[in-house]
Amino acid sequence: MIAPTTPRPYTEVPGPKGRPFLGVARELLDDPFTLVEQVTVEYGGIVRMPMPGQTAFLLSDPDLVQFAFVQTERAVIKPPALIQRVDMVLGTGLVTSVGETWKRNRRIVNPMFTRERLHGLGPLIETVLAETVERWQGRTMIDVRQEMGHALLDLVIRGLFAESQEAMARFDDIADSLLELFRFVARQFVSAIPYDLYLPTPSRLRARARRKRIDGIIADMVHKRRASGQQHGDILGLLMEARDPDTGEGLSLDEIADEVRTLFLAGYETTATALAFSLQLLAEHHVERERLEAEVDRVLGGRPPTLDDLPALTYTTQVFHEAMRLYPPAWLIGRELPEETEMGGYLLPKGALLFVSPWATHRSPANWEAPLAFDPDRFSPERRGDYHRFAYVPFGGGARKCVGTNLAMMEGVLILAGLVQRYRLEKVPGERLRMRGGLTLDLLAGFRMYVTPRQPALPRSVTGASAPDDSQDSAPDESALDQPTGARPAAEPG
Ligand code: HEM
Repeated sequence: MIAPTTPRPYTEVPGPKGRPFLGVARELLDDPFTLVEQVTVEYGGIVRMPMPGQTAFLLSDPDLVQFAFVQTERAVIKPPALIQRVDMVLGTGLVTSVGETWKRNRRIVNPMFTRERLHGLGPLIETVLAETVERWQGRTMIDVRQEMGHALLDLVIRGLFAESQEAMARFDDIADSLLELFRFVARQFVSAIPYDLYLPTPSRLRARARRKRIDGIIADMVHKRRASGQQHGDILGLLMEARDPDTGEGLSLDEIADEVRTLFLAGYETTATALAFSLQLLAEHHVERERLEAEVDRVLGGRPPTLDDLPALTYTTQVFHEAMRLYPPAWLIGRELPEETEMGGYLLPKGALLFVSPWATHRSPANWEAPLAFDPDRFSPERRGDYHRFAYVPFGGGARKCVGTNLAMMEGVLILAGLVQRYRLEKVPGERLRMRGGLTLDLLAGFRMYVTPRQPALPRSVTGASAPDDSQDSAPDESALDQPTGARPAAEPG
């Protein structure tokens, strides 16, 4: 994209007129997906979005998306007003912290999410998959949204605290508290006016009580673990042991609790949503489903998948990516300009809100050929060079790219392969896909599907999940994508 030498005023950025006073605020609440998709097609890669009291722009041009992501923590910031809405729940966790606090926390947390460190979670993912397969036995219909939510809730909570018998005994209590906090954050994100920021409304009081409860449980576990001197391989254990590679400093108890709440919030519904849409798309696209079944049958030969199978499950990985292209769980990401900034040939004002929309970016005909077609081969090695790196951003990009990318890919591909191996899901006539643009892309009121077994049940005990071979790199091949590693956050190139 060639920018003109003299940038034009932001008032010339094309965009819809909107309603008097309200602009497009109502459409953004009612049907945000149609809105962002349509205005992108009509007005292009940067669109002025009239909003009450706010100068806002929707970005889908990959160069501008790249600018917004890569400049975050430099010339672009996370919107302070948005952070303020949710910091009661997330504190100084990775999603909401900024500046030096974020840099330090990311340096500490990054090494926990490398493929090598995550390998230890393999048996847990395999177990949750086996339990899901078992739960579906004898059933003819499932709610795919609910089922994936169930699996991921198990997975995330057990991943966080698996090695605490006490936590596992209080699983429901922990799950209820974290879910209540999740719902609170989701409401805060979408509410047009955060009227209760300083008011003790019932929902705020409930959330505060839940936070106190979960923090009490975490503090108990941390104290007991410190007293016993034992090391633990779950996420809580990794957070306790993690050190800033520069200073050797670890996280305080409050910071550990902030990070636990943050990781739950960031890792639970996102992955569940990506899996639910993958299954829904496969039910509608029989050619692709059969190709996936053939791959899974060939690679696995009838045994349940393990992390070591992931490199061979190439088509499964492509399907998962294509599902996240069409239905990116993080469908809208907010940024703000702290200074007047030139972008895309326009001079955007200080304080402008930037909507970086993976949904609009992934569905723009300017970025993709036949963008609405389900075509997992877009992500085949031969075609990966066909699209701009920042035309596909389900995990964001730049220094603040999702720290859980590797984990999400491992969970998503392994669970997808294991479910397709054992079951065929089909559409229920009349069942409509209804979505809500909440904190994540949400399948409203669930989505029912018929389920039929594909293979006779194989003998496999739930606890007998095979341990992965530590000598192999088992992560899916994401090499052509914007792949985070244990690298330092600020070092990621644009
Ligand atoms: C399919 C699943 C997932 C999707 C689509 C997803 C998407 C994203 C996106 C788009 C961002 C960047 C937000 C921004 O730039 O403002 C992000 C950040 C983050 N994600 Fe994920 N995520 C997923 C799974 C996970 C998992 C499994 C974890 C960890 C358990 C996780 C933890 C985080 C954290 C901590 C951040 C904040 C990183 C930072 O600002 O330094 N995510 N995620």
